[in-house]
Amino acid sequence: MRTQVAIIGGGPSGLLLSQLLHKKGIDSVVLERKTRDYVLGRIRAGILEQGFVDLMHEAGVGERMDRESFVHDGTVVSYGDEEFGINFKDLTGTSVVVYGQTEVTRDLYDAREAMDGKIVFNTENVQIHEADSDAPYVTYTVDGSEHRIDCDFVAGCDGFHGVSRQTIPLTVRREYEKVYPFGWLGILSETPPVHDELIYAGSERGFALCSMRNDNLSRYYIQCSLSDSPEDWTDAAFWQELKRRIPAHYAENLVTGPSIEKSIAPLRSFVTEPMRWGRLFLCGDAAHIVPPTGAKGLNTAASDIHYLYNGLVAHYHDGDDEGLDRYSEKALARIWKAERFSWWFTSLMHRFPDQSDFDLKMQQADIAFLRDNRAAQTVMAENYVGLPY
Ligand code: APR
Ligand code: PHB
Repeated sequence: MRTQVAIIGGGPSGLLLSQLLHKKGIDSVVLERKTRDYVLGRIRAGILEQGFVDLMHEAGVGERMDRESFVHDGTVVSYGDEEFGINFKDLTGTSVVVYGQTEVTRDLYDAREAMDGKIVFNTENVQIHEADSDAPYVTYTVDGSEHRIDCDFVAGCDGFHGVSRQTIPLTVRREYEKVYPFGWLGILSETPPVHDELIYAGSERGFALCSMRNDNLSRYYIQCSLSDSPEDWTDAAFWQELKRRIPAHYAENLVTGPSIEKSIAPLRSFVTEPMRWGRLFLCGDAAHIVPPTGAKGLNTAASDIHYLYNGLVAHYHDGDDEGLDRYSEKALARIWKAERFSWWFTSLMHRFPDQSDFDLKMQQADIAFLRDNRAAQTVMAENYVGLPY
């Protein structure tokens, strides 16, 4: 088989790229290790920057998102019993959109299938060959039979555990990582959200986040120990702990119910450089990870896709390779800023096991400065709604 762009990974990054390229008449094949149902079973964050929303429209898949999403003009930040709002709309003129990543991915799959997009599921042993030559190719196995795809470019959209990043030789690749000493225990419940905005709550007992998917579907998280497992936490214990971490007037109004999903995610900051090696381009989680505080995971993937997509269109339509040549540099410049923001917001809101009294005072002063200073709020709001591409 031959295609123009071989895309490894059928998560949101790979699907969005494939759909955008299709709209410009550029052919691609997506290779996904799992099944569609498996990919759609993963629950991830639900906050979209305007840049991501614009890309979904450009890809022709914004219709259901426009209908079913919710625009949020601000968020609540609390610290103990103190509470204040950050009004994104007033501070930046922009808002964010609440729409689950699972729904984004579903819309992208539906669009690819409606257009007969080539997606191969259950691929095993995907290998990228000769990425540093003019004739790269990808081999893989499905149901025991071997296949080969010759292509012009390979997009590595296969997440943190994929093969694409590993294909870049260690002599070229440099990785930067910070692992946080806690996780997030998250639940999904068919209950009305406790508030119409998200609440990022710091407390003596650790961080909590109140988020949502729609009027009757809530997503809540609490900071937990890395040694915890979801089975250690009954629903009742989760609700009790959440209530102790958010301001009392929210806790009193919190509607609880059975969890329909419960999982623990570790927190990590990670970046690999460069994001391009020859004709292989890394996108999304394959190249970088952020802790979920601030919901930058999907949004950083989207800016990579934006740069790569525009670079590929300029290459095929105008014979202009500047966008591809500068892909890594442009993508990383924005990624590092999103890394900084999610690291800062994580450091501000969580309790760290080795936090000294001095560290705690710094955290409290940072919160007080954010509460009282409009410039500080603007910095936070600009980062939260998304820096320009
Ligand atoms: N071969 C084929 N597919 C693979 C391989 C492989 N060797 N390894 C991984 N994959 C697939 C995974 O099964 C997954 O469906 O690649 C896909 C990668 O998807 P994501 O991990 O969702 O990464 P990405 O598409 O970049 O999306 C970024 O998702 O993980 C969140 O926080 C992240 O919100 C961000 C967004
Ligand atoms: C979510 O709704 O899952 C969510 C929202 C905001 C975050 C992280 C996760 O910062």
